[in-house]
Order: sequence, then C-alpha cells, then structure tokens
Amino acid sequence: MKAEARARANIALVKYWGKADDGPLNIPAVGSISITLDALWSDTEVQFDGSLAADELTLNGQNRPEQLDRVRRCLDLLRARAGVDHAARVTSRNNFPTGAGLASSASGYAALTTAAARALNLTLSRRELSVVARQGSGSAARSIFGGFVEMRAGTRPDGSDSYAEPLMAAGKWPLELVVAVTAREEKQVSSRAGMTRSAATSPYFPAWVAGSPPDLRQAREAIAKKDFESLADVAERNCLGMHGAALAARPPLLYWNAATIACLEAVRRLRRSAVPVFFTIDAGPQLKAVCAPGSSATVREALADVPGVVDVLESDLGPGAEAG
Ligand code: PMV
Repeated sequence: MKAEARARANIALVKYWGKADDGPLNIPAVGSISITLDALWSDTEVQFDGSLAADELTLNGQNRPEQLDRVRRCLDLLRARAGVDHAARVTSRNNFPTGAGLASSASGYAALTTAAARALNLTLSRRELSVVARQGSGSAARSIFGGFVEMRAGTRPDGSDSYAEPLMAAGKWPLELVVAVTAREEKQVSSRAGMTRSAATSPYFPAWVAGSPPDLRQAREAIAKKDFESLADVAERNCLGMHGAALAARPPLLYWNAATIACLEAVRRLRRSAVPVFFTIDAGPQLKAVCAPGSSATVREALADVPGVVDVLESDLGPGAEAG
C-alpha cells in the first residue's frame, strides 16, 4: 500500500482568494484560471501501514505537525472510499522554496492526493482527484491538470461541482514563466489565513468577488484566442484587485517587499518597450513574469538585474499530476 506521485506548481492568472464556506470542504468563493509549470514540483510518497498509530508527515526532511490536519482531510476522504483505516506515512519533497508564495501547497496536495489514491488502488477520474486535492489546498485542485486550467467555484453545498478542468494543452500556447525570488523565508501569513481575514474584514472583498466572473470570461477568451495583450490586461488587473482586497483587510495584509515593486516596474517597462510579458503576484513577495513564447531570456536578464532579487527561476508549462 505504497505509491509515489509528482505534481507541479501552478500560477493563477485569475486568482482564487476567499472561501464560500469556512468548513473543511474548502469551497472557493470565486473560480480561478491557472497555468501548470514544468520546473517546480513536489514528489510525494504515501505508505498506508497498519502498524502506525497516527498519520505522519515529513516535508523536506522535517516533521510538519501543523500541516497534518489538512493532510488528514485528504487521506480520510480517500480512506473512506477505499474502506481502509490504516494510518499513513507521507514523505514529500519540493524542488523549490516551500511556503514562500511559490504554490508549494498546490503541488504538494495534488501529489499527496494522487499518490494516496494510487496506494489505495482507487481508480478516480482527474476531476474526482481535484475535488479531494481542493480540500487540502484550493489551488491544488488545479495542479491535477497540466497546461491551462480552470477551477470552477461551483454552487453545490457539498462541493461536488467545485473542481478543476483543463482549458487548453500546454503545447498549444507554450507561454514561459520567469520567477523573480525576492525572499526565501516562509511567509508570515498563509494564503489560507490571509484570504479568510480578507473575506471577514476587507470592505473591498465583496467588490473583489463581484469582479471575478468577468475576469474569468476575459481570460478564458484570451486563452482560446491566444490573445497575449488581453490576457496581460486581465491578469495584472485581477492580481492587483486581489492584493487591493488584502491590503484593505484588518489588520492589513501586505505581501510585497521593495524588490517586488521594483520587479513590477521592470515588467511594465519591458512591455512598454514591446517585450510581451506581464506580471502576477500571489500571497508572497515573489514576482511571476508570464512571457510570450521566446521572450523569457530577455525578461530573465532584466529581472536578475533588479536590486533585491536573490534568485531567478524559469519554467515552461507542464503536465498534470502523475503517479510514478
Ligand atoms: O491554495 P491556497 O490556499 O494556498 O491559496 C492560493 C491563493 C493564491 O495563490 C494567492 C491564488 C491562487 O489562485 O493560487
């Protein structure tokens, strides 16, 4: 009863920020659209073992008891389907900084769900896997699929229609990603805590939720038509809207540092000089630059020169989660 899986990080171009319920179902308040990346991944092994007293989690060689509730949530859903009650030993490793706004929970929970389902010999559709992964981390539902992916907010109270689905294969529009890493440490306020605080206290939160459906529509159309300008327009606006809602929370949430802003300005300068690139930023200080095919080398060079950038990562678009 042991299996491994690899899942990749994904970056949302239209963001998920806020939950429709505060319970364990983890139903999002808004849909989201993302790209799955090739170069940033989690490798996770799950072993169900009748001799274990409780579930155990090792992440990058360290015990992480504070993550166990969410891990257990995914494991319990799968154990119930398989009729198994053994505890599990989960060993996960990321090939990139953990908890720093690089979507490590997305790749981590997608890999966990895929490995655990395989270890239990369950044959689940990717849609079903995405429903389980969502309950570990909302963005993880999207990492089940490769390329361009949409997460549906859904309307059912049991969360059964809050799943991710593929929009377009990676190879049809091979966008490139450059990540400017501006801090390596784990962020102080997790996405989960940040979005809960935004929903509960930010006067801009209702406007953020209301603005999501038109942004999703524009992004869906831009992707279908491979319209880079339109995707750039909606992705930057949606990202700043999410951060606007977070900035107005009480106490305020400011995920950026000085280098994040300097990178944002560098991306705007590049676009003004006709380099096809746009930025997005998640719940952390890293800036993600999405580049039209063939322009990542120029963008990488420009971002590496920005004071405060400690590392630059590059990635193509990648596949969905794979059991190995
Ligand atoms: O999946 P979580 O709970 O880590 O939340 C992800 C939130 C953002 O990364 C900021 C946006 C998104 O859609 O990925």
